Amino acid sequence: MAIPDSLVAKMLESRKIGVLTGAGISAESGVPTFRGRGGLWAGYPVEKVATVEGFDENPELVWRFYDERRQNLAKVKPNKAHYILAELEKYYDFWVITQNIDGLHTLAGSKNVVELHGNIWNVKCTICSYRGMNREVPLSKIPPQCPNCGAILRPDVVWFGEPIHDSEKAFEIAKSSELFFVIGTSAQVYPAASLPFIAKDYGAVIVEINPEPTPVSVIAEYVFRAPATQTLESLFQKLQEPLQTR
Ligand code: OAD
Repeated sequence: MAIPDSLVAKMLESRKIGVLTGAGISAESGVPTFRGRGGLWAGYPVEKVATVEGFDENPELVWRFYDERRQNLAKVKPNKAHYILAELEKYYDFWVITQNIDGLHTLAGSKNVVELHGNIWNVKCTICSYRGMNREVPLSKIPPQCPNCGAILRPDVVWFGEPIHDSEKAFEIAKSSELFFVIGTSAQVYPAASLPFIAKDYGAVIVEINPEPTPVSVIAEYVFRAPATQTLESLFQKLQEPLQTR
């Protein structure tokens, strides 16, 4: 795939790079995306499985949905795109802001990861202040109970209507990045979707990697209508040598 020389030059002169990722970056690992045909939400009523009201009404149903997702995610591995983003941390003040709850960026070795929507392996108590990690697959008890107080635990993920995690850090990254990549997100869910626009306002060059157009496409200087793995592989191939010597 052709990577413009001007993008390589911009990458070589940049020091701080931000990346916003969405479900599309994990698609090639076998994780379903949310929207469109066969999307994750297609088979589930979002208001029942991804809202506090839905959880209060039927915690078993919600936990069954998450247990199923956890069973699927326990089998998947990061792909080339996750690994290349992890590798780029060696050369930059490099930050991945992800909407994904699959934990694949961290598994690929990225350290600077902001998980805006939480992580599917984290749980928190609905009553006390307990927060922890639970990797049991499948869950032996649904809903799982708090080890501190015995109340029902919930997934420590962000549901519709809830505030995102680490928003201050995410906005700081968007405002201070020289280059801002937007990879595999339909850019429809706010506030995550506002980050590329903020980055642009603060002077970043925007690069979109997505086989489909999105609202971000119109503000992007570079648009790659191709899968994340293929695009990042081509980009990294061109960059690897000059990065060693810059
Ligand atoms: P979506 O399912 O809305 O969008 C996935 C995007 O990935 C689409 O634009 C696809 O074109 C693109 N895509 C598919 N395959 C790709 C590939 N191989 N390489 C690059 N791009 C590819 O998922 P998100 O934008 O992540 O929130 O959705 C955002 C939020 O909506 C999720 O975090 C979730 C959901 O409701 C919550 O649960 C709070």
